[in-house]
Amino acid sequence: MIATRQLLRGDVLTAPRSGDVRLLRDHVVVLADGRIDAVRPPQTGDPTASDLLLLPGFVDLHCHWPQGHVRGRFSGALLPWLRTHIWPAEAKFDVSAVATQRAASFVAELLSCGTTAGMFFGPPFLEASRRFLTIAPAGMIDGPAIMETNCPTELQQPASDVLKALQAVPPGERARLVVSPRFAPNLTREGLAGCGKMARDLGLPAQSHLSENTDEIAWVQALYPEASSYTDVYDRAGLLGPHVVLAHGVHLSDTELARLAETGTIVAHCPTSNAALGSGRMPVERLNAAEVPWVLATDVGAGPQLSQLHVMAEFIAQHEQAGVTVTACEALDRATRVPGTWLAERDDNLVGLGTLTEGAPGHVVAVRSPGGQSAEDTLRNLFAAAAPAYETAAQQVWCWGEPVQIGRG
Ligand code: GUN
Ligand code: ZN
Repeated sequence: MIATRQLLRGDVLTAPRSGDVRLLRDHVVVLADGRIDAVRPPQTGDPTASDLLLLPGFVDLHCHWPQGHVRGRFSGALLPWLRTHIWPAEAKFDVSAVATQRAASFVAELLSCGTTAGMFFGPPFLEASRRFLTIAPAGMIDGPAIMETNCPTELQQPASDVLKALQAVPPGERARLVVSPRFAPNLTREGLAGCGKMARDLGLPAQSHLSENTDEIAWVQALYPEASSYTDVYDRAGLLGPHVVLAHGVHLSDTELARLAETGTIVAHCPTSNAALGSGRMPVERLNAAEVPWVLATDVGAGPQLSQLHVMAEFIAQHEQAGVTVTACEALDRATRVPGTWLAERDDNLVGLGTLTEGAPGHVVAVRSPGGQSAEDTLRNLFAAAAPAYETAAQQVWCWGEPVQIGRG
């Protein structure tokens, strides 16, 4: 029987507000009825002091759950990687037993890494995505990758059929489904436009990929000669807006950045994936200058690890190597509070997600305290201490107030 009230004691690191990451030494996080009841200094009768550092559960807004079992296993540039390894792997998910078993092991591994909420791409089969939702905790949403063309026939389905099936899902369940055109080369113009309209009509979020790789961009230009850019392909389809998350955005022009900012479209920055597939460095300084909203995400299975600690560490390494100033505090904020707030805008039950604040979902990650003088210091020490096996850094994880059974492998 799981206690409804638990007291967790350690140093606490959280970003309750934008740009305000705090290190609270020796505090107690009180979990009650699945939520955070209080974050306060210790009192008489509390558990003894620990060497733990308590962080909010991580939030990952771009990750492919049917690629969990092949994460980091294959390399190469984006298009051959997809055709040779990823699409054949995803084709197996039309068998429901495979989808159920893989979804269960993915969610268990994800939680063990400290990610307690997020948005996921499923395989191109709606039933598989629906099974994922029966296994994943509230706060995890997903959608089947919509693929109509330019891929193996067993993965193809007209977007109109997928959208009709999605519309037929009962509204309560549908609220956790995401309109997910895989990327422009896999869709027809009509299919993309149908996705744009369906997301708006049903009030659902949408996700896709944008400008990850130069060969991909050339392909999009050839397929959509009427569009002025890759971003314009989605713009013409009504697929930009604050409800849309587009992964990568590595090679965008100033005009494209301005349009993303104007429409409030979110970019999911995936530095570990960009490194693994040799896609290039996303120019974070240009996104910031243009005021494009962005979050940090794993993009598993191109991203080789499910841990957002790996993503944060790689974010720092990549941009600092290029001479761009970034902070570990900003990384934490973009892997917790910022994506959590985005999910909570669509679901009142999630208010406070990605923070350790009163009333927030009871999602906590405990790691061994790495020491440090400040929040920035502590995080940088944590990234160093956790490398390279970031997936095993979490000592304990709580999701909706309940301890997660940590399983490795
Ligand atoms: N572009 C289209 N599909 C994918 C995918 O599965 N992973 C990545 N990284 N890029 C994509
Ligand atoms: Zn992706």
